Amino acid sequence: MNARIWTWLGAGALAMGIAAPALAAGKMTLYCSAQEDWCQLMARGFEKASGVKVNMTRKSSGETFAQIRAEARNPKGDVWWGGTGDPHLQAAEEGMSVAYVTSVRGELQDWAISQAKSAGDRTIGIYSGALGYGYNETLLKQNNLPVPACWKDLLKPEYKGHVQMANPNSSGTAYTTLATIVQLFGEADGFDFMKGLHKNINQYTKSGSAPIKAAARGENTIGIVFMHDAVKQAVSGFPIKVVAPCEGTGYEIGSMSIIKGARNLENAKKFYDWALGAEVQSRALEVKAYQVPSNTGAKTSPKAPDLSSIKLIDYDFKTYGSSAERKRLLKKWDDEVSNLPR
Ligand code: F6P
Repeated sequence: MNARIWTWLGAGALAMGIAAPALAAGKMTLYCSAQEDWCQLMARGFEKASGVKVNMTRKSSGETFAQIRAEARNPKGDVWWGGTGDPHLQAAEEGMSVAYVTSVRGELQDWAISQAKSAGDRTIGIYSGALGYGYNETLLKQNNLPVPACWKDLLKPEYKGHVQMANPNSSGTAYTTLATIVQLFGEADGFDFMKGLHKNINQYTKSGSAPIKAAARGENTIGIVFMHDAVKQAVSGFPIKVVAPCEGTGYEIGSMSIIKGARNLENAKKFYDWALGAEVQSRALEVKAYQVPSNTGAKTSPKAPDLSSIKLIDYDFKTYGSSAERKRLLKKWDDEVSNLPR
């Protein structure tokens, strides 16, 4: 429906004495790459705050990137909210998102702004979180398995069939894992690590958090995920223990971008500013999303992983979020790791 018809409908509704903010305010399409419950909270929250009707689709980070690229000639989405920063950076580099400087910028953490600066304001940081893994304590004991503490522990032959991670093509979590391992151990040793890990993997899932959800349900023992996703399961009462790997680990700057060619650009900008506000970011705790918020005034929880106590690597977002490097690493993983027998 075009803008004139919306305006006309809005005016008509007003003439009839019907409340018309939703019609007058229009609509927008949100592509969301965080957890489904958080995506719903954001979509419904914005509808309530603005009257804008939000059509939301949840897909993993790599999947959403692929969709936006496939739709580039005929864009259907307005805002891409959530998901790891690397594919957002790649989208910026490939001209799939547009520059926008938010009015909320002064309230944001330095890492959120540096994400924006490195992409000419075509994306911005909305949360951050460290990578790690979680395990089901009950299953570990039942299978007489040792307690893992390091990345390299996951290569032990006794864990065969007990480890799950997502596919780095579809999942930002898994791409962060691949890029972290390469940065920690160097490319040759890093790929040897991924090949060794492959022998213990029971399944590569599409979504990044699926391995820890499966562990919570007792269908998998160890899940390589962002630590906040493991904490969410532990806090929900499942027997999940969270590990910050002893060698150190990588992290994400979860990001947001306005899609180039957005049909509802003004509403996309409204959503963008709204989503960066302290009050909105504080609501993440309602759905047990324990990432570090990018607004310095947003509430955090003592249950959230304390990033200052975790050995974090100096993750090179510029390199690993670049189009050439992301493509190269994913192809190498496809060619050299994923096809190996287990
Ligand atoms: O919302 C949970 C979360 O782990 C985010 O922190 C992250 O950006 C996103 O999911 C990654 O999801 P996926 O690995 O499925 O792309």
